[in-house]
Amino acid sequence: MTDWSLTRRELLVAGGVALAAPLLPLPAFAAERTYTLRAGPARVRLLGATNPETAVWAYNGQVPGPVIRARQGDRLRVRVKNALAEETTVHWHGLRVPNEMDGVPELTQRAIAPGGTFDYVFDLKDSGTYWYHPHANGAEQVGRGLYGALIVEERDAPRVDRDLLWVIDDWRLGNDAAISGGFNAFMDMSHAGRLGNIVTINGAPPRDLAVRAGERLRLRLVNVANARIFALRFAGHRPVVIAYDGQPVAPHEAADGRVVLGPGQRVDVILDMTGKAGENFVVRDDYYARFAYDLLAFRYGPESLRASTLPPPVALAANPVAEPDLATAKRARLVFGGGMMGRMGSARLDGRYLSMREMMGRGLGWAVNGVVGTGHRPATALSLKRGESCVLDLVNDTAWPHPIHLHGHFFRVLSRNGRPTAHREWLDTVLLDPQERAEIAFVADNPGGWMLHCHILEHQAGGMQAVVEVGT
Ligand code: C2O
Ligand code: CU
Ligand code: CU
Repeated sequence: MTDWSLTRRELLVAGGVALAAPLLPLPAFAAERTYTLRAGPARVRLLGATNPETAVWAYNGQVPGPVIRARQGDRLRVRVKNALAEETTVHWHGLRVPNEMDGVPELTQRAIAPGGTFDYVFDLKDSGTYWYHPHANGAEQVGRGLYGALIVEERDAPRVDRDLLWVIDDWRLGNDAAISGGFNAFMDMSHAGRLGNIVTINGAPPRDLAVRAGERLRLRLVNVANARIFALRFAGHRPVVIAYDGQPVAPHEAADGRVVLGPGQRVDVILDMTGKAGENFVVRDDYYARFAYDLLAFRYGPESLRASTLPPPVALAANPVAEPDLATAKRARLVFGGGMMGRMGSARLDGRYLSMREMMGRGLGWAVNGVVGTGHRPATALSLKRGESCVLDLVNDTAWPHPIHLHGHFFRVLSRNGRPTAHREWLDTVLLDPQERAEIAFVADNPGGWMLHCHILEHQAGGMQAVVEVGT
């Protein structure tokens, strides 16, 4: 066997001499980071120290699972052990990994059996805020607590006083703090998904945040809820968005001062603490206007960190995402239909037409281009050649919002309801309002079969999923 270090030395010694042996390629990654995740039952205190524990499913016994942190260019090696009583996988939401590392049972790998192990190994091409979660029985496994954040640091990170992570979840708990059963219940599937009654940040009740006047925070927001959409209003402050779904965007103040996050989405904001010592400001979630509530408050301590105002945040360096060629792009339309109060009368399942009533009898209720996507290998909605640019017209023909997620790629959002977007942001999950349409564009440069689905996990299970095939 060739020893790498020896070969390297030989090459160095050989200097400018023509070498007989072929040059070995240098490793493309900077460093390898190794993690082990064990998915299994655990007990945690979601409601704080003075309340009963909740039986959850968790990575390494904690909710959220460990934060995986690496730098752009690193190689990540994660050994996943399945200590659950059912199959699982891990999907790296947003990361552009090789298809066989994407963690979708049947489509990209055989699911990890109870007691089994799987090694995920891939290079981190893009910096940003990401997360990981199972893609088997997703509504229940994610809903019971299997998720964690994955942060890929920029080579040249913006200077901030604190880099904070809020992994936001929504739970349906009973009075005994136990998770209510009934995952994938028909009512949830056919309406807004499984909304809960308890919101946690980093697996605990939201706590007020002690801040100092003049401080600059980077806040990484991750929505890991099955179904709840958040719209955070930072009273008295002006959050500046620097990234969506991990991808840099021209820094801009959130529209209406409101940061909206659909399930699966991430937003990185820079928050300057422009209040004064001793002041308090609430952060309020008002996505569902009739059910708005205060999440937490910023509490200014007595000291102030700096008196001067900082210069506006600068843009993060772009990730190496290929620019779609709109002139030659293949164009296609994907219509999302179904659900309660919609107009979908029937849809196709395994080649047969079913009425809405028949579909509902099978616990299904949604479709993509009239096809109900079931199992882990739903029908292919779109086939693309490798390297081909694609413009997709996404049409939400339902009475419900849907965060539509594509695996293995980032896409630019070109327009919404025919109006060009201000920032042409790159996303991996786009939130479509009821009856909204969005035009997205991307280069199909990652070969394999990729899931495209609603990230309201009950909608996905209820048929709102399809496959996008990218040729090899
Ligand atoms: Cu976050 Cu298909 O997943
Ligand atoms: Cu994903
Ligand atoms: Cu949906």
